[in-house]
Amino acid sequence: MIREACRSAAEAILLVINTSNREAYKEVIPKEYFREPVLSLAELVRDFERMSFYVYNSEGKVVGVVALETEGEERGRIHWVYILSEYRRKGIGTALVSYVEQEATKIGLKRLRLLTVEQGYWAVDFHKKLGYTLTERVARPWGFDVFLEKELPF
Ligand SMILES: CC(C)(COP(=O)(O)OP(=O)(O)OC[C@H]1O[C@@H](n2cnc3c(N)ncnc32)[C@H](O)[C@@H]1OP(=O)(O)O)[C@@H](O)C(=O)NCCC(=O)NCCS
Repeated sequence: MIREACRSAAEAILLVINTSNREAYKEVIPKEYFREPVLSLAELVRDFERMSFYVYNSEGKVVGVVALETEGEERGRIHWVYILSEYRRKGIGTALVSYVEQEATKIGLKRLRLLTVEQGYWAVDFHKKLGYTLTERVARPWGFDVFLEKELPF
């Protein structure tokens, strides 16, 4: 169900990220700062050059996404954790992040971090449940950005 995505999946990934971002954040980010779509195809293609994308397929359709970037010898960063709304609270986000943690361990990473928006309390709660702790809180015009980090247990 989870596999590493190749570029041919870029449009399906883009649809999940942009649809999911709009549904989740349009009401919580002031409209002068809300970017829609949050990601263009050209930006996603560039992200493919520095990150590995993993997708969760259900009945032949991409319903969840996550990406892993290596930042240093031992540290990586998680990006684009997005699940289509009708597939949330079914454990798919947990499965994707756990998969990425295992992939990260295989390539020798010891710590993973990610950035999210504090007003997205669901994303903060989700990552805290997976063992990520808040390391930095940065004031932004739209609220606070937060960094969360986890030492990989493997
Ligand atoms: C955050 C997100 C990825 C979680 O994915 P998911 O597949 O729904 O998560 P899971 O089903 O694996 O949830 C695991 C746990 O996370 C927490 N959690 C998940 N969604 C939550 C919510 N809306 N509110 C509070 N806690 C939540 C719960 O503790 C949940 O366990 P439970 O269902 O047993 O209570 C998903 O809600 C999403 O795509 N949201 C919109 C985009 C987004 O905010 N992405 C994060 C950017 S960093």
